[in-house]
Amino acid sequence: MSTRTRAPGNRRLGVLISGRGSNLQAIIDAIAERRLDAEIAVVVSSRPDAPGLERARRAGIGTVAFSHQDYDSRDAFDAAIARELERRDVGLVCLAGFMRLLGSRFVAAFPNAILNVHPSLLPAFRGLDAQRQAWEHGVRVSGATVHIVTPELDDGPIVRQAVVPVLPTDTADSLAARILVEEHRIYPEAIQAVLDGGWTIDGRRFVERP
Ligand code: GRF
Repeated sequence: MSTRTRAPGNRRLGVLISGRGSNLQAIIDAIAERRLDAEIAVVVSSRPDAPGLERARRAGIGTVAFSHQDYDSRDAFDAAIARELERRDVGLVCLAGFMRLLGSRFVAAFPNAILNVHPSLLPAFRGLDAQRQAWEHGVRVSGATVHIVTPELDDGPIVRQAVVPVLPTDTADSLAARILVEEHRIYPEAIQAVLDGGWTIDGRRFVERP
């Protein structure tokens, strides 16, 4: 099993969104409150009308939107985003509700330098509507995961997780709301840990210096 260390070369984030952008806001707030030592170089949206873009503009962060309909293939769409991130000298890509699957070429362009936040305790309940999947399954605990992105959906080494109990009175929506609170807490923490370096990937484990 191979082990290697690969911390991002700088602390410049590219945050990719498609919608409301509450995780983007959590990252903006953590930087402002100095809980996270980083800067957001650009916010990229897969939708020009994503409400999260307004959060970026309010914080004085540059934004750019890419519509996949404007590209012939997924590779071309991915390549356009990768070029923009490279142009802005982004060291760590943070997916925050980004609803397009990025291909293996994009992932290879940012080795161990793409993070995603997912609203379940992976590897349970990958894919869309994970909070409802968990609630319908009847699990007693669910939660949130931040992981390094690989070409597989919602896979890759786990950097942080938080457990959220499922209450008898919960609906899928009330569970999702409590999971979101944990997402907002652990995403900036995970970004800080990855930027700080001193970790290795051992198999599929993210191993931090003790
Ligand atoms: C979050 O629940 C995140 O875990 C999932 O998409 C949602 C994005 O929410 N990947 P927001 O746009 O950050 O508010």
